[in-house]
Amino acid sequence: MKIAVIGTGYVGLVAGACFADTGNDVYCVDIDPQKIDALKRGEIPIYEPGLDTLVKRGLAEKRLHFTTSTPEAVQHSEIIFMAVGTPPLPNGDPDLRYLQTAAEEVGRAMNGSKVVVNKSTVPIGSHETVASWIQAHSQYPVDVVSNPEFLKEGTAVDDFLNPDRVVIGTFRQETYEKMAELYAPFVRQGNPVLWMDPVSAEITKYACNAFLATRISFMNEMARLCEKVGGDVEEVRRGMSSDVRIGKHFLYAGVGYGGSCFPKDVQALLATGRRQGVELGVVAAAEEANAFQKKHLATRVLEQFGPNLSGRTFGVWGLAFKPDTDDMREAPSLTIISDLLAAGARIRAFDPVAMPNARRVLENRVEFCQGAFQAAEGCDALILVTEWNEFRHVDLDRLKATLKAPVVFDGRNLWNPDSLRAKGFTYTGIGRI
Ligand SMILES: NC(=O)c1ccc[n+]([C@@H]2O[C@H](COP(=O)([O-])OP(=O)(O)OC[C@H]3O[C@@H](n4cnc5c(N)ncnc54)[C@H](O)[C@@H]3O)[C@@H](O)[C@H]2O)c1
Repeated sequence: MKIAVIGTGYVGLVAGACFADTGNDVYCVDIDPQKIDALKRGEIPIYEPGLDTLVKRGLAEKRLHFTTSTPEAVQHSEIIFMAVGTPPLPNGDPDLRYLQTAAEEVGRAMNGSKVVVNKSTVPIGSHETVASWIQAHSQYPVDVVSNPEFLKEGTAVDDFLNPDRVVIGTFRQETYEKMAELYAPFVRQGNPVLWMDPVSAEITKYACNAFLATRISFMNEMARLCEKVGGDVEEVRRGMSSDVRIGKHFLYAGVGYGGSCFPKDVQALLATGRRQGVELGVVAAAEEANAFQKKHLATRVLEQFGPNLSGRTFGVWGLAFKPDTDDMREAPSLTIISDLLAAGARIRAFDPVAMPNARRVLENRVEFCQGAFQAAEGCDALILVTEWNEFRHVDLDRLKATLKAPVVFDGRNLWNPDSLRAKGFTYTGIGRI
């Protein structure tokens, strides 16, 4: 099939590369000329495991094209995916200005009837809004489908190639069948392609993210209770997750959820609830618990070292909002670092891939180090924020010798408290005694 993808970020680039890899002819568009030039040379502007192989293969086979021209991409395509960003506005609603601009550009470029797919996470009713934006500039028929994306950064390629399900929100059978055919190579093992109305598809995306965010916030509350009463949230998690009604995923206590999706989608759902007069108390509580949790680890540091941290230096391992990504959007590390800086501390930080993006946000307020041990050097304590694999089996003797004092705050319960204490460390985890 001939496909255009508008917006070549985490979602658009992965979608475009995966569709090209199954034999489709794909034009990926972005307004950022530097990004497009880099992609034409086979350079990947984001860190996402496995993506470079797909992009290089797509380029070599001439099935994947990059352009800054929406008309070029649209006129060549029968299906157009909208994958531009929808960041949050101060009131929680998604900012739809990128989507509107992109839709109007698509409208102006139309040269026949097209299927336009909302892949961006968009407010309920957006299938109609996007259709009206396009139709204001085009006399050709357009069918706007809601096809929310569920990939996770860090495993985005695998998630896209092996989705648990594909959701297609359209009233038209012909459009559903076309979309199902496009996705058929990714669901050969029988995972469902779910056909539903567009509004239900739009709600499904927000409901999934709000539900997963709620699981995390619930566990973070259990962790805080464990800290008070002397339990271990890791044991509680094991006890809960072996119940098949509950399952294993998204039950890890930690420093709170971040990233480009959960915080913004939870806020967008709450804004929709407010507008519709529907109280979404569970979702609101999940968000409130998360705001609290993002500050919790810094609070533990302040409890141990006192409110004035001037003259103290802390090493921070991990800056990205989760491992295997360079995405710093809403990363809990930013809250933790800013709370410690506000108390007068100095920060030495290291992340295996997110440092260029972190530098853009934190500028010169922290010292960026070349390696994990360099970041720990001479520090009053080490704070683990992101559970990168390379931190799992750390050389404890070397760490002890590197720090000024053997004190660690483990924001992801990555390490075994007994092993660390046996080596003489003062260990503080989340929800653990
Ligand atoms: N990142 C994720 O894990 C994830 C997962 C599921 C859904 N989503 C949703 O997908 C959408 C995209 O997210 P993302 O993380 O890929 O965003 P992103 O910010 O990484 O990428 C968006 C891209 O769109 C480009 N763009 C903006 N306006 C444009 C225009 N008029 N024409 C062409 N390109 C334009 C930007 O330059 C940018 O490269 C969002 O709605 C997000 O909520 C994201």
